[in-house]
Formats: sequence, C-alpha cells, structure tokens
Amino acid sequence: MSTLDLIIRNGTVATASDVFKADIGVSGGKIVQIGQSLEGAARVIDATGKYVLPGGIDSHVHISQPSGEGIVMADNFESGTLSALFGGNTTIMPFCLPEKGQSLREALTAYHRLADGNCYTDVSFHLIISDPSPSIIGQELPALVADGYRSLKVFMTYEGLRLNDAEILRVLDVARATGATVMVHCENEDAIRYLIEKHELAGEVAPRAHASTRPVAVEREATHRALSLAEIAEVPIVIVHVSNGQTMEEIARARARGLKVFAETCPQYLTLTARDLDGMDWEGAKMVCSPPPRDEAAQADCWRGIETGLFDLFSSDHCPFRYDDPKGKLNPKGRANFRHIPNGIPGVETRLPILFSRGVMTGFIDLPRFVALTSTNHAKTYGLYPQKGSLAIGSDADITIWDPAVKRTIRHSDMHDGSDYSPYEGMEIDGWPTTVILGGNVMIENEVLMGKKGQGSYRSR
Ligand code: URP
Ligand code: ZN
Ligand code: ZN
Repeated sequence: MSTLDLIIRNGTVATASDVFKADIGVSGGKIVQIGQSLEGAARVIDATGKYVLPGGIDSHVHISQPSGEGIVMADNFESGTLSALFGGNTTIMPFCLPEKGQSLREALTAYHRLADGNCYTDVSFHLIISDPSPSIIGQELPALVADGYRSLKVFMTYEGLRLNDAEILRVLDVARATGATVMVHCENEDAIRYLIEKHELAGEVAPRAHASTRPVAVEREATHRALSLAEIAEVPIVIVHVSNGQTMEEIARARARGLKVFAETCPQYLTLTARDLDGMDWEGAKMVCSPPPRDEAAQADCWRGIETGLFDLFSSDHCPFRYDDPKGKLNPKGRANFRHIPNGIPGVETRLPILFSRGVMTGFIDLPRFVALTSTNHAKTYGLYPQKGSLAIGSDADITIWDPAVKRTIRHSDMHDGSDYSPYEGMEIDGWPTTVILGGNVMIENEVLMGKKGQGSYRSR
C-alpha cells in the first residue's frame, strides 16, 4: 500500500547548508521523509545523476504593474508565473503598486483578483509605498502589515514614485513598529535629473544615455543615504539590485557599524555592461533597466559579492516590456528619447540557469551557496521560512530537479514570458531545471508542462 504520494529517488540533495544523497518522500504537499531506500509511493521520480534542490524563490519580480500612460507590462500572472516555473522557481514575489487615486487596500484587492486562479507558482506580494500620507503611515500601512503584507519597497528615484528622506524615515518607522521589511531602490533622482538635462542639451538622447545619466555615484550616494536613514530609524533594510563595487563597499561599511543590511544583486549585473545599451536602431532599449549595467570591473565585484556572502539575495528584477511594441520599449516617445523608454528587463526564467551555469558548474560557488542565494535567503528575509526555501521534514514539497548534463543556448523563442526578447539571447548554459514540483504536484517533468494554471496560490506571511 502507498503511504506516500511521491518519492524522489537517488538524487543528490542540497540545502543551504548540506549536500547529501537521499530519497525524499512527499505526502499531502509536504516533505514527510528524507532517508535511504524509501518505499511505498504512488509515484516515483528517479533523480539519479541529478541535483534535488529547494524550488527557486524570486523575491523581486514585477507583474501587471502600472507603468505609465500608454505603457503595458508584458507579463500577467499567467505568463509571468509560467515563465518563472520553467526557470525552476516555485514562488515569486511581485510588487503591488496602487494606480493613481487607489488606496493600498484597493490596489491589493485588484492585484489579488489578477492573480487568483491564474498562477503556476505560489506568489506573495510586496507593497510599493509611493504616497506616505499621514493616513497611510498612521493607519492603512500598519493594518496591512498586520494582515500579512510584511514587505514594502520605497524608491529614491522615478517621478511619481520617489520618496524624500523624511518620507522614507516615516516608512522605516512603520517598519520598526510593525516588523515589516523595507526594500530600497537607491538612486539619487535629483542628480539623475541634472544629468538628463545636460545630456538633452547636448543632444544625447539614445538608449546609451540611460547608463550615463545614472552613473555609479548616483547609486552609491543614495545607498549611503538609505543606510544612514535606516541607522537613524534603527531598523534593518534590504538594498535591492546592487550593480557595482562602490555600492557594495557602502553596505560592507554599514554592516561593520553594526547595521542589519540585506543585499541583493541580479543576473544583469553579472553578465551585461553599459555597452549593451548601444546598438543599431535603438536596440539598446532592450537593456534599459535601473540601475543600469556597468562595466567588467563592476561585474567582477558583483561576482565577488556572490562568492563571499556580501550578497544575501540573487533575484531577477524581472520587469518585462515588449521591445518592438508601441506599448513597450519602442513607444512613440521612447523611440525619440531614452527618458521615455520603460525601465526594466525580463529574466525570471533565466535567473537560476545563469547562476547555476556560471556559478555552480564552473565551481565558483557550491550548491549550498546557490541554494541560499536563490531560495533559502529569500524565504528567511521575507517571512516564508521554513515552510519554503528548504528541504526539511514539514516544509512545502517545492522542489526543483536540476540536470547538470543538459546544455542550452538561451533563446527567447524557448521562453514562456510575454516579452519578445531576452537580454541573454545566445548565452550558453550548462545545467537546466528539468523537473519542478510545487506543493507535491509535478508541474514540469523532463521539461514538459504537466501542471495547470491555478495550481499556484497566494501565500500570506
Ligand atoms: O529597471 C528596473 N529595475 N525596473 C524595475 C523597477 C525597479 O526599480 O525595480
Ligand atoms: Zn528598483
Ligand atoms: Zn524591480
């Protein structure tokens, strides 16, 4: 008689701390046994020669986010979570941004409506705070944190989103009082505006100007300020999408002063440079994201942070727009001036393969570090651990099986997102997530979709 729903047999299992040969037994959507020669399951998956890892958690993903007049994000919850699933993820954390005039609560209701029944992975939302009015700071936000929306993002850049220092301090105050986690996008908007004006006067309006109007100093200064504000408010913060070594030094210094700082980087800062914003026919628009990719030295610094542990989190910052589309990168204004090119690039499906291939398969990092950077630390930072982010008795059976023998070339035509390009087109990849299990359900088996839309659900924290 079967007592288990599923056994994953003969794999090399890795967590954020250990690597060992074991079978994993699943029942009722949870991991219930880890041992040798497990028997008695309705279904067995043979993982001989494969790595069995916790499902990826991507805690920095933008889906169906309001993006300005006439601009439409390329992914809804169906395409975004399908793409995430094919990339080896079992949970993603998108951002809820209120439309103009909407309360946070109304925005959440609308966002849940978009997600409900449409997801292939589990999801959990962060809140973007763009209007820290007294009623939001005093009432709405604390109530929402109490309801399980425990992570907030604030921006120091972007017209309409940026907060000034006093406003950031008020949000940090709420975080200290409620235990919420604050993510900060660190770029100095006034300095960017100054540089944009100079570039426009000089007629420099092509996509490459996006990088030169957001130099390292813009990010480094804002990061220093965000860290100082967190120190003043006496609260931990997350510095997201760090792109370079000088910013990493600010984080290391703050930690040396005793601050609790979490740091995130993304594939674009390990693999792209500002030169990728050049290109014929406005092609560089495909790589416009903020902070922009830098140079080889900055890439090397970010790789060092991956290796040494300066970075806790490796996320995609998946923020997809179609390129050849009047509602995307090549919108009528964006074709004429980089300022109007929507910021963000797709990458939820390629995040894990890129780090696995360039990090694990080259021996640069080991499997536990990979698991920590791509799953466990996300669960711990945002309150999903130990239900998620681990392979332990009682954890959700969210499991990704990796085949190190598979070789792939990244082609957008093979991807599942709603965009029309990949920033990583042509990149050679060693190792691929071939089977993905969500809550005990085999969603992808040997790269074939078995699961259905709606099997992913919302996870309150
Ligand atoms: O360019 C980017 N990163 N767009 C997404 C929004 C953000 O700042 O994370
Ligand atoms: Zn950001
Ligand atoms: Zn982002």
